[in-house]
Amino acid sequence: MRYRLLSALVASAAAVAKAAPAATTTYDYIVVGSGPGGGPLAADLARAGYSTLLIEAGGDEGDNPTYADIGNFNEAANDETTRWDFWVKHSDDPARDLKFQHNTWDTGDGTFYVGLDPPADAKLLGIQYPRAAVLGGCAMHNAGVCSLPADDDWDIIVKKTGDKSWAAENMRQYLKKIEKNEYRPAGEAAHGYDGWLATSVADNSWAKNDSLPGTKILKELARLTGQDPADAANLVNRDILEEGKKVDETTSFYNMATHANSKGKRSSPNNYIRATLADPAKYPLTVKLHTLVTRVLFDTTAANATKGAVPRAIGVELMEGASLYKADPKHAAGTKGPVSQVLAAREVIVSGGAFNSPQILKLSGVGPAAELAKFKIPLVKDLPGVGENLGDNYEGSLLALGAAPVESGLITLLFRTPSAPTKKRNIYTWCGAFSFEGFWPGFPTYHGPTQYSCAMVHMGPKSQAGSVRLLSADPQDKPDINFRFFEHDGDKDLHELAEAADILREAWKAAGAPVAPLAEQHPCLGGKDAKCTDAAQAEYFKLQAYSHHATSTCAIGGDDDKMAVLDSKFRVRGVRGLRVVDASAFPVVPGAFPSCPTMMLSAKAAEDILADAKKEGKAC
Ligand SMILES: Cc1cc2nc3c(=O)[nH]c(=O)nc-3n(C[C@H](O)[C@H](O)[C@H](O)COP(=O)(O)OP(=O)(O)OC[C@H]3O[C@@H](n4cnc5c(N)ncnc54)[C@H](O)[C@@H]3O)c2cc1C
Ligand SMILES: *[C@@H]1O[C@H](CO)[C@@H](O)[C@H](O)[C@H]1NC(C)=O
Ligand SMILES: *[C@@H]1O[C@H](CO)[C@@H](O)[C@H](O)[C@H]1NC(C)=O
Repeated sequence: MRYRLLSALVASAAAVAKAAPAATTTYDYIVVGSGPGGGPLAADLARAGYSTLLIEAGGDEGDNPTYADIGNFNEAANDETTRWDFWVKHSDDPARDLKFQHNTWDTGDGTFYVGLDPPADAKLLGIQYPRAAVLGGCAMHNAGVCSLPADDDWDIIVKKTGDKSWAAENMRQYLKKIEKNEYRPAGEAAHGYDGWLATSVADNSWAKNDSLPGTKILKELARLTGQDPADAANLVNRDILEEGKKVDETTSFYNMATHANSKGKRSSPNNYIRATLADPAKYPLTVKLHTLVTRVLFDTTAANATKGAVPRAIGVELMEGASLYKADPKHAAGTKGPVSQVLAAREVIVSGGAFNSPQILKLSGVGPAAELAKFKIPLVKDLPGVGENLGDNYEGSLLALGAAPVESGLITLLFRTPSAPTKKRNIYTWCGAFSFEGFWPGFPTYHGPTQYSCAMVHMGPKSQAGSVRLLSADPQDKPDINFRFFEHDGDKDLHELAEAADILREAWKAAGAPVAPLAEQHPCLGGKDAKCTDAAQAEYFKLQAYSHHATSTCAIGGDDDKMAVLDSKFRVRGVRGLRVVDASAFPVVPGAFPSCPTMMLSAKAAEDILADAKKEGKAC
């Protein structure tokens, strides 16, 4: 008879489990995604004493030299250990996208074909857009370039929302808070020296050597951009994170700063999270790796019962296992993991990045009503802006082959082209003996020992018409991502890129023997003299531009803006207990590189969330 008793007990336990699904553990905060948005935030919340669960789809590669040594960034972005491949569109015109030289095709035999002439049976994948699923997010595979937005890119949030805490002069404090500057003398007001994010610069003493071809190009570039060629060797050490009123209008060389320490070790949220876990203070931070969040859970009881009440985020549903997301090249078809739920007594913060945060919101019932209805996702809140407003820097490069190796260090230049719409500089470029032409499996192409390139990042794109939309209600599926490059005022942005190319190309002429003439490969085969018109260059950039700084898909906006997803405190509009903190929150593309700005935004979010917690009282 003991048998029966036992099975009766088991049966009733199962019934209980069914009625109240395994929602066992409760944390104060749950943060989804450990990149520049979510990683530092989770650490900050735990350090303030709140129990915090940080959920990350990837693993921890902090000790892996591919990731830990910043010089391996190309290898890191190609590495299947962490890579999520999104295959994106650049426009609504498939014929136009087919002209992108690095389109990628699945050959069916486990290899990719990259190019314009695929084998007959190959299946088009699209334009590769790598992301890193790993503790620390894309800050673990990026080049670590650390750069600040123009003041206007912060101030626009003040204009949109009235919240003065977003003013550029106030945002500087967050850089100071997180920064551990290793390249400026101690005590400069613009910088922080005891934060968790190491910043450093390269040794630019090469620029003192006048006989290097790179120095000759540098001096000519100085002349062409209104700088003193005689001062070029000093200007290449100018502080790119400098503070000042007219900085955004300044055309100058700089020393490129990276989020790495002076020994070449990458610095990212990974370090901060690990330091928080290892701290003797035993902060209440729990990190759950290899776990895919499938949706946010809401309590709709009050909203249904009381007029004016809104749904409240109470936790997340998750699926445990590695490589569950179909963007992961290691994903095996049909693989699933155990599904469970975790509760948040205070808040859920979604920080999955510009592609995944809008996807998670939509899967949870927060997004454009018609799109959710199409996939039979019960509507929690109709928010038409979720997944829209996708923006990115337009990037393009000039590539040449020298008659001999072009000895040079890295020239970093921020400048304004003649037709830029405001007085602000609009191009961030870096030139040197490398090649960078965008992303595809196996990038970049090595063009031999004489390759020389200027890579350009265009700032302030006039169009943010891209979107991230669901292809299904399956959380393991990738969404449909279309950047719709150059959709609005594209001609103007393309003209600015062509103007920039003209200036850089002109400077190459000064390279001298034995490397001159530099034989341009693109945008103009043979250079400007070989019938390279503005129109031809614009056409080249329109078809070949690439990008890797996606932002703005859950944008902060004003109360009267129906496309606003967040208020100025990162709260998702129309629900309670839910925020989005990552690069998707920026209403406009923040300068040339989003990584440092996103970490600043994360530090601000921590402060805003903790201020709210203090108001509500610590006890839950
Ligand atoms: C190849 C490359 C190079 C770059 N180089 C630079 C550079 O030099 N300088 C610069 O400033 N910027 C660079 N960037 C961009 C920069 O790294 C990103 O803008 C930045 O990391 C964005 O931070 P985020 O927190 O918004 O998102 P992410 O960094 O994408 O982090 C999101 C995290 O959430 C996790 N996640 C997503 N969905 C889920 C889910 N459902 N469940 C659990 N976890 C989830 C992901 O695994 C990821 O770890 C580069 C980007 C790429 C791809
Ligand atoms: C300058 O560069 C040239 C060419 O590489 C090299 O031969 C020379 O030694 C360098 N001079 C100094 C002072 O480093
Ligand atoms: C609230 O109403 C919606 C729509 O009718 C329903 O799907 C949901 O289950 C309700 N919530 C509760 C807690 O009853």
